[in-house]
Amino acid sequence: MASPTAPPARPDKTRDVQRYWNKNPLGTQFRVDESLEVGSDAYFEHIRPRMTERFPWIVDLIQTQAPKFVGRKLLEVGCGMGFDTLMWAEHGVDITSIDLSDASVALASRNLARKNLAASFVNASALDLPFGNEQFDVVYSRGVLHHTGDTPRAIREVHRVLKPGGSAFICHLYRRYSWMYFISKWGREPIEFADGDPPVTDFFLCPEVRSMFADFSECSLDLQHYRAIPTLRTGAKAALYNNGFVPVYNLIPRPIAKMLAYKITAHAVK
Ligand SMILES: C[S@@+](CC[C@H](N)C(=O)[O-])C[C@H]1O[C@@H](n2cnc3c(N)ncnc32)[C@H](O)[C@@H]1O
Repeated sequence: MASPTAPPARPDKTRDVQRYWNKNPLGTQFRVDESLEVGSDAYFEHIRPRMTERFPWIVDLIQTQAPKFVGRKLLEVGCGMGFDTLMWAEHGVDITSIDLSDASVALASRNLARKNLAASFVNASALDLPFGNEQFDVVYSRGVLHHTGDTPRAIREVHRVLKPGGSAFICHLYRRYSWMYFISKWGREPIEFADGDPPVTDFFLCPEVRSMFADFSECSLDLQHYRAIPTLRTGAKAALYNNGFVPVYNLIPRPIAKMLAYKITAHAVK
């Protein structure tokens, strides 16, 4: 059940959302070397550090959880370019990945193919998952549900397709009123890329997130914050960023940075 102050549902935005992510599959904004052929091995390796190494807690989560689910069924909601799909698949998890953007699904499937790894990819919406009830042992999603236009409904869909006792790892929901969000938005992003914002991004207070998971038997939240890493771009702004902003920003003690962070990970058990 959504809390009364949660953002209103905007499923009518789905076409705009799809158009946006088809034009800007997550990761493409970090391509600095334009000579790299899209979908080549070199292309994925060029982008990968920005998609995985920046988020060590995601790598930890997958490395810790995946061995528990070898051969079990995991659904990834909103796979983007598939870097997380790849990590789950490397551990032998039976993974199905969906995304609303067919451009992202195509890139994700090439990302796995280059490593000779398999996953089932489906072009579908988190708001209407094309699966029966209680099909999956795990549902994993990173940075997706708050971009759908109806986060509570997406979480109900996660609950529906999970088996009883199954786990949901819903990462990078955005917290409302975070100083770190402000810094990232006005410091890092204009230097690393210049895309417009996605058509929908919802922000929540932690109690609102908990209330969206009320149908689950357990739910715990964790705030996450990433260190700044130097941009690969060149020019005066990039030099100022790399030599000024990055070292100063990374001086913020980790516990304080976490307290002010905006990425919320929810681990819920059905
Ligand atoms: C910020 S990107 C995250 C991609 C990937 N999880 C990652 O971390 O690299 C958001 C993704 O959510 C997908 N998305 C947005 N709305 C969706 C929906 N209703 N159903 C499925 N995917 C959706 C977008 O197409 C996009 O790939």
